[in-house]
Amino acid sequence: MEFLTFKTMAEGSQKAFEIIKEAKENGANTFGLATGSTPEKLYELIVASDLDFTDSISINLDEYYGLSGDHPQSYRYFMQQHLFDHKPFKETYVPDGLNTDAEAEAARYEAIIDENPIDVQILGIGENGHIGFNEPGTSFDAKTALVDLTDSTIQANKRYFESEADVPRQAYSMGIASIMKSKKIILMAFGKNKANAIKQLMAGEATTDCPATVLINHPDVTVIVDEDAASLI
Ligand code: GLP
Repeated sequence: MEFLTFKTMAEGSQKAFEIIKEAKENGANTFGLATGSTPEKLYELIVASDLDFTDSISINLDEYYGLSGDHPQSYRYFMQQHLFDHKPFKETYVPDGLNTDAEAEAARYEAIIDENPIDVQILGIGENGHIGFNEPGTSFDAKTALVDLTDSTIQANKRYFESEADVPRQAYSMGIASIMKSKKIILMAFGKNKANAIKQLMAGEATTDCPATVLINHPDVTVIVDEDAASLI
């Protein structure tokens, strides 16, 4: 695992952009994408670049259960606004938050991942160490599933909603095992509120108490943080 610290989120995002650019030049064509504040700057850089994704496929990590793609807090909506409406892809996959048949939706999404092996996966990290919406306690063998959000995640994400009551309590999430199948992984973390999760990640022990620690078992991971996120190491 390569660990890189930058002064600012802008510099860290620039590095992530360069890794993606180089991977793309070397043939990467399927990109696992994340939502949240962490990758916003990276998506800005991609939009401003001359990189062409019209032959590329994207597969997003997760989606809130019960939200349609045109709900402003849905992750499909986020991706359209921040990336896809400005930088067209050949195919963009995000779980269908409106599919109430959880088993069918999970199987459909897992099949998409199997058919389109992810070359580069972008990850953020939750304050509690979650990746995607795989909360602490999730098995490292987990595949895509409908999962319950913890209180910590609901609290962290309520800033985007009118009230805490509006935050969905469940989400479809790519599983930890599904994420681990990606050939290359870039995890980014910016800000003091991520320092504890990054400390656990860098402690060198894979534990389901901090889902991101599974990454120490992956052969090609780059962790990009700012000084605040690195402050407890
Ligand atoms: C959210 C998402 C994750 C994201 C994380 C951090 O709940 N499910 O995919 O990485 O929490 O979010 P942010 O980047 O806004 O801090």
